[in-house]
Amino acid sequence: MTLIKKILAAQAAVLALWAVSAQAATNDDIAERIKPVGEVCIQGEECKGVGAVAVAAGGGAKSADDVITAHCGACHNAGVLGAPKVGDTADWKKRADEQGGLDGLLAKAISGINAMPPKGTCADCSDDELMAAIKKMSGL
Ligand code: HEC
Repeated sequence: MTLIKKILAAQAAVLALWAVSAQAATNDDIAERIKPVGEVCIQGEECKGVGAVAVAAGGGAKSADDVITAHCGACHNAGVLGAPKVGDTADWKKRADEQGGLDGLLAKAISGINAMPPKGTCADCSDDELMAAIKKMSGL
């Protein structure tokens, strides 16, 4: 064999190996992609798949802490733009009294008020999730 042929043969071997491993990775990817999204739950048995599926489908309720961390806290932690601060119950209480209670505050949180954006930027928050965040921030 000439030198050039040896080099070509070696490269072909490398290529062949690479092709095999690339194929393996692809098969793994496919297995990952086509694996079932949910698990079948049998009545009377604990069903661990349900929570994960509900969250993946966006049906899981966000906790007050999650909502505050992801949205409200940006302004309400430090009182940006005059926002009532987390834990400043007196300020929240005054506002609640002005709006006719927690339900009134919720209505303002949904519609927005002055520098407070509608739903506090949490567009996909349910009323319950907003209310939980308001209760947690205000301590009311
Ligand atoms: C961009 C900043 C910002 C974000 C984000 C934000 N707020 Fe506010 N919020 C404000 C400001 C400013 C006020 C005070 C508005 C005023 O009275 O002029 C306020 C006031 C409020 C009030 C009192 C309304 C009233 O009638 O006095 C509630 C309730 C409230 N926010 C809830 C929330 C909730 C719940 C979230 C998160 C889901 C949130 N806010 C996110 C800025 C923000």
